[in-house]
Amino acid sequence: MDSFLIHGGHRLKGTIEVSGSKNSALPILAACLMAEGKSTLKGVPRLLDIDSMSKLLGELGCHVYRHEPADPGTLVGPALNGPLDIQVQDETQCEARYEIVKTMRASICVLGPLLGKRGKAIVSMPGGCAIGDRPVDLHVRGLQKLGAHFRMENGNIVGEVRGRLKGCRMYLGGALGPTVLGTINVMCAAALADGETILVGAACEPEVSDCADMLIKMGARIKGHGTPEIRIEGVEKLVGAEHRVIPDRIECGTFMIAAAITNGELALKHCALDHLIAVTDRLDEVGVQTQRENGTVYVTAARRINPVEMTTQPYPGFPTDLQAQLMALLCLSDGISVVTERIFPDRFLHVGELNRMGARIRKEGPTAIIQGVRELQGANVMASDLRASAALVLAALVAKGATRIDRVYHIDRGYEKIEQKLAAVGAQIERIKEGKTSLSMSAVA
Ligand code: EPZ
Repeated sequence: MDSFLIHGGHRLKGTIEVSGSKNSALPILAACLMAEGKSTLKGVPRLLDIDSMSKLLGELGCHVYRHEPADPGTLVGPALNGPLDIQVQDETQCEARYEIVKTMRASICVLGPLLGKRGKAIVSMPGGCAIGDRPVDLHVRGLQKLGAHFRMENGNIVGEVRGRLKGCRMYLGGALGPTVLGTINVMCAAALADGETILVGAACEPEVSDCADMLIKMGARIKGHGTPEIRIEGVEKLVGAEHRVIPDRIECGTFMIAAAITNGELALKHCALDHLIAVTDRLDEVGVQTQRENGTVYVTAARRINPVEMTTQPYPGFPTDLQAQLMALLCLSDGISVVTERIFPDRFLHVGELNRMGARIRKEGPTAIIQGVRELQGANVMASDLRASAALVLAALVAKGATRIDRVYHIDRGYEKIEQKLAAVGAQIERIKEGKTSLSMSAVA
């Protein structure tokens, strides 16, 4: 498994292009299972999770083809990504196998599209993961209300539809709020159901709206997406369409924090700042300025980092997917910060690793109390999940000395060419391939 070696203390300065959203692209790719004819998606990032979803769609009878740019030259990032074509060729396969689901929980996104279009789905039950239990009961309950029948069989969720799904009004929320992928699954299935479906307590995340926008281009009749009440009037069929996925708000927020933590100045291109209002609100209080000019966002930071309180919430609140990265920044604040995780209360694997780098964080249930320190120190640390790993990269960018982060495949699942993007703006970051040693490795404590 690859590692990153990062020498901290370099101010980041320059321009970074934000990639297309992973969490938009994954369910939209799954939604393409319902289309007759070819769909073309633009802006899909090159990531391990996208490869896994493409492989899954292949097993489900789709031809998935990535166009290459005419002259890749020295391009880095999104400009290098040709469009992705998806065409369903065989509708007989309905199974998402354990081998794929275990590498990517988002495989659950095929459940709704398969039931809506093919009337049958076998999806290996996703287990817990590093950020918590992650049940899928709300997905199943919503689809049951549309008329699907479920049973568990050898670790698989087996869903069947007798006849056609039937629209209804339902409440979709759960104990910890709305569900993003659950909303998308039920919305997809309802797009091909008989009659009207009203989803009350739907997730409002931009990724849900992006998927609804693609479904509408495919012929679906959806209103109210982006609000807690989505109305879907079922149609007989959906056809292939062309769509560009929205920019990745989590990648963008991560780079904003990279600018802040290194006291740098970054210009972020293709940044959907409107999707980050709760994040810029917290960053503003920390002392980080964000300014938009012609689609580019300029991020500058004050030398002093103010402590803040932050609680993760469903959109438009502060996203759980940026909690770890903000915490890395708050480790260096001038005082005590309090961070509470309300979406995945166990999502704190980064705490122990940040403490190994000299941070002073104490966890109490779903809350972390962070006593700011003057500096972080380089250390050997372990990436544990995607966003926790991003937090370690951020901490390493400012830590004194060298940090080696092992198991960076977690980062490769969700950050496109992160080391190239950071190196281009002044970070000293190097990928060490498995089995190879770096010349500068001896610098690690
Ligand atoms: C999506 O996961 C994202 N994944 C996650 O991104 C993100 O953290 C999460 O939404 C919250 O914003 C993708 O888009 C691929 P949820 P999802 O269902 O949809 C509980 C990343 O780092 N719940 O909205 O699976 C659940 O346990 C990640 O990119 C149930 O109780 O999350 C949680 O407490 C990881 N029953 C809350 O709801 C269910 O059936 C919200 O989870 C489903 C969820």
